[in-house]
Amino acid sequence: MQRIIHLATNPGDLVLDSFLGSGTTAAVAHKMGRRWIGIELGEHCHTHCIPRLQKLIDGKDPGGITKAFEWRGGGGFRYYRLAPSLLEKDKWDNWVISKDYNPTMLAQAVCKLEGFTYAPSDSHYWQHGHSTERDFLYVTTANLKHAQLQQLSDEVGPERSLLVVCTSFRGSKNGYPNLTVKKIPKAVLNRCEWGHDDYSLRVENLPAAPPPEGQQELFAD
Ligand SMILES: C[S@@+](CC[C@H](N)C(=O)[O-])C[C@H]1O[C@@H](n2cnc3c(N)ncnc32)[C@H](O)[C@@H]1O
Repeated sequence: MQRIIHLATNPGDLVLDSFLGSGTTAAVAHKMGRRWIGIELGEHCHTHCIPRLQKLIDGKDPGGITKAFEWRGGGGFRYYRLAPSLLEKDKWDNWVISKDYNPTMLAQAVCKLEGFTYAPSDSHYWQHGHSTERDFLYVTTANLKHAQLQQLSDEVGPERSLLVVCTSFRGSKNGYPNLTVKKIPKAVLNRCEWGHDDYSLRVENLPAAPPPEGQQELFAD
């Protein structure tokens, strides 16, 4: 692995192993000063890859190229678990919300897809997320009728706005000045991409890395 990574990359480059196995690619890349992305389907991600890479970061991995590269530990990694697909086809070939999703997961996923920060409120059931201090998002699988939308609109009031993402609704889409009403799955389907040759990564949607320990935040007190 050292030979391949040396020939094909420079320090700081990203090395991708989408079949991480026991984590050798990531381990070697890390010690060689490359950044890396590893993807693994199996449970050995938890039993092998993570403990191995953690040991390496802690400077407790004497094997492989440690000696040759005078590796003493350092760096880090972020770990994410991929959620199941939000949408699936029912027996009539219609897109529906996957049964694997509970209301919390659904609200989190829709917030992410719509560019809102998931932050459910204790006091307002309709505040699942926000994009600004006055702009909120509400996700529900309910079929909203005019009376409910009107009540929501009254509660939101003239100073705030609300994006309502529901399964279906009755009433005029544009009848409430402070509400934007969208239907799942259409609202979600518009955000998904299938069948492309090139899936350009929307890097701005990735969560920011926490600042390294000891590093001042730009606007810290
Ligand atoms: C032979 S190992 C890979 C070895 C590894 N690349 C290395 O250099 O040490 C193949 C791994 O791919 C994983 N795998 C198979 N299909 C996968 C998929 N669709 N997504 C992610 N990992 C997958 C398997 O669980 C297995 O651990």
